[in-house]
Amino acid sequence: MSKRTIVTLPGDGIGRTVLEETIRVLDAAGFEANYIEGDIGWKFWCSEGNPLPQRTLDLLEKHKIGLFGAITSKPKDEAFDELKPELQEKGLVYSSPIVGLRQHFGLDICLRPCRTYKGNPLNFIKRGAGGTVEEPEVDVAIFRQNTEGLYGGVEWSNPPKQVYDALMTHPKFVQNFGDTSVEEISVSTRIFTKKATERILRAAFDYAKKYGYKSVTVCEKPNVIRETSGMMYKMAQQIQKADFPEIELWNTNIDAQMMWLTKNPENYGVIVAGNMFGDIVSDGFAGLIGGLGFACSAQYNPETGIGVFEPTHGSAPKYADYSVSIVNPIAMVESACMMLDFIDEPDIAKRMRKAVADVVKEGKVRTYDMAKMPGRADVVERGAASTKQMADAIIAKL
Ligand code: NAI
Ligand code: MG
Repeated sequence: MSKRTIVTLPGDGIGRTVLEETIRVLDAAGFEANYIEGDIGWKFWCSEGNPLPQRTLDLLEKHKIGLFGAITSKPKDEAFDELKPELQEKGLVYSSPIVGLRQHFGLDICLRPCRTYKGNPLNFIKRGAGGTVEEPEVDVAIFRQNTEGLYGGVEWSNPPKQVYDALMTHPKFVQNFGDTSVEEISVSTRIFTKKATERILRAAFDYAKKYGYKSVTVCEKPNVIRETSGMMYKMAQQIQKADFPEIELWNTNIDAQMMWLTKNPENYGVIVAGNMFGDIVSDGFAGLIGGLGFACSAQYNPETGIGVFEPTHGSAPKYADYSVSIVNPIAMVESACMMLDFIDEPDIAKRMRKAVADVVKEGKVRTYDMAKMPGRADVVERGAASTKQMADAIIAKL
């Protein structure tokens, strides 16, 4: 069989380190692939005025699978100042290459699984009756609609006349905002389409079925946001009834869910939500299983089979220049496991997850976050594992 080609997108800062270590883990696990590096990130913004060059899009279009580290983004003024002088007159505007990837390839499904590793000192614990300490086992998969809703970018301050006139046709707008002058109004829209809503719901139900989860929870706010959240819940009811009667459909409001997060996180299986609520609930659950050093994600388009797999953390610039990298590579390794599941290599993924689980359970090798040290250059001297030592420990288990 011919080898797969994987487009690596190291990006900036610690994205580069964790990706490099993860490829060593993939090799040790027996995954055979050609890796081609795609240019992305701050460096390319500064040198050519585009953090997501067309050649990178072409590579992904061709090979379909991207393994992404992390990128650096900076505010508008800094973006301008760091641009190469000869590009500064061109009126270029920085925009996030991650959002760019999502939009260009229609990566509308975002999956963020959060699973407890036994023995992780960062696991959430709670007190039980009589002062006992309980460590709930979290195993949830969060499906976040990735392209629409509040992050869709359709927004205005001082909206144009047509928009204002349209808003004035709504009795609630007249009642609540009719007395406010248009210059004092900012509007961010929350648009859901039936097509994308159905896709994210079906992805969630399919996953629940494939991996044996007993419930799918729609985590929105349909009692208040009646049109968008309401549509999502109603469609979920129809899909469940027609095609997934064996899976329970639960309905929670995002605010209540954030409270239940710490009360009974072990009860949830698959969770599905729109863009912003999915972002919120997935960060919440990630906090229960160890935070950024453990949080992985996938973004994909089920029609084209194009997928990008990445840890949810950023480029952590403050650690990027340490002579020995100290950050935890597990989130990136987990993201590579998600890639392997996606390209139908579940056995290799299983081996890698088992190796990570063994290292965490044994507790001898812990990066600074797991050792609960403040992140500083001397953490390795003080007994924490470096990024490379953590990867070595995982490889040794493999
Ligand atoms: P960050 O995720 O890069 O770092 C925040 C803090 O989390 C770090 O200082 C560190 O204490 C901890 N941390 C992150 N990754 C870790 C790991 N693997 N192991 C142990 N600890 C870890 O977020 P921050 O500082 O807000 O942003 C830094 C840059 O990254 C910014 O330019 C931002 O725009 C960008 N960013 C990029 C993302 C991406 O590429 N997907 C996501 C989030 C931020
Ligand atoms: Mg987030």
